[in-house]
Amino acid sequence: MSAGKLIGVGLGPGDPELLTVKAVKAIKASPVVAFFAKAGRRGNAREIADCWIAHEQTEVPLYYPMTTETRFDHPVYIETLRAFYETSCATLAAHLEAGRDVALLAEGDPFFYGSFMHIYARLRERFETAIVPGVPGMAGCWSAAETPMTWGDDVLIVLPATLPEDEIVERLNCCDAAVIMKLGANLPKARNAVLRAGRAASALYVERGTMSGEKVLKLADKTDDSAPYFSLILIPGEGRRP
Ligand SMILES: C[S@@+](CC[C@H](N)C(=O)[O-])C[C@H]1O[C@@H](n2cnc3c(N)ncnc32)[C@H](O)[C@@H]1O
Repeated sequence: MSAGKLIGVGLGPGDPELLTVKAVKAIKASPVVAFFAKAGRRGNAREIADCWIAHEQTEVPLYYPMTTETRFDHPVYIETLRAFYETSCATLAAHLEAGRDVALLAEGDPFFYGSFMHIYARLRERFETAIVPGVPGMAGCWSAAETPMTWGDDVLIVLPATLPEDEIVERLNCCDAAVIMKLGANLPKARNAVLRAGRAASALYVERGTMSGEKVLKLADKTDDSAPYFSLILIPGEGRRP
């Protein structure tokens, strides 16, 4: 009996209609569907793929032991997550060794800041793998905002808001267009960096782009400090136009 294949399936930004045909086929054809979720929740990825998962498929939720309660650079966080990924790999490897293909769902694109990558890096030597790309969350957000992002020679930068504020300012000073991801509790810091870099006038705040509860507003109008996990800032380029 040959081992199963691990397939990283990109789900797109949230609207279930933005899954690719290939993603739907991969999900439907896999006897095992795995997904990450916050403990006690169904999980956003599972929600997005809901209408393509059948009763006879085996579902494997991988519950994060912690998300944002501890700082990401704290040794306890690093060690806890390392152990979580090891245990998750052992769970998925058991299915793969038994010859069952595993579709591991990933919001947006699997290779763009995805948890999937931590599983892929550990299992790629042992099992056959395949990647189904997905529409990245930021593309869903700039489409939702109907905001063209890059023109002509514009240089786009993608920044995690987890970076120090000074570094965000520095990097904003060296680009034409920018996306600042991973806002959540980092919103005040990111907003301040955008102000300091003199980029606030055109900046947009997008929450839950393409999902239910979507919000698009000027960053200047986002005056409170609370942002959900699915939120980002867009700074469009203003480059060459014939
Ligand atoms: C860990 S990254 C995963 C990115 C994902 N793999 C992708 O391709 O978009 C999660 C961050 O992506 C951004 N994000 C992804 N989808 C989004 C959406 N639909 N609306 C707003 N932000 C989104 C948020 O900044 C969020 O904190």
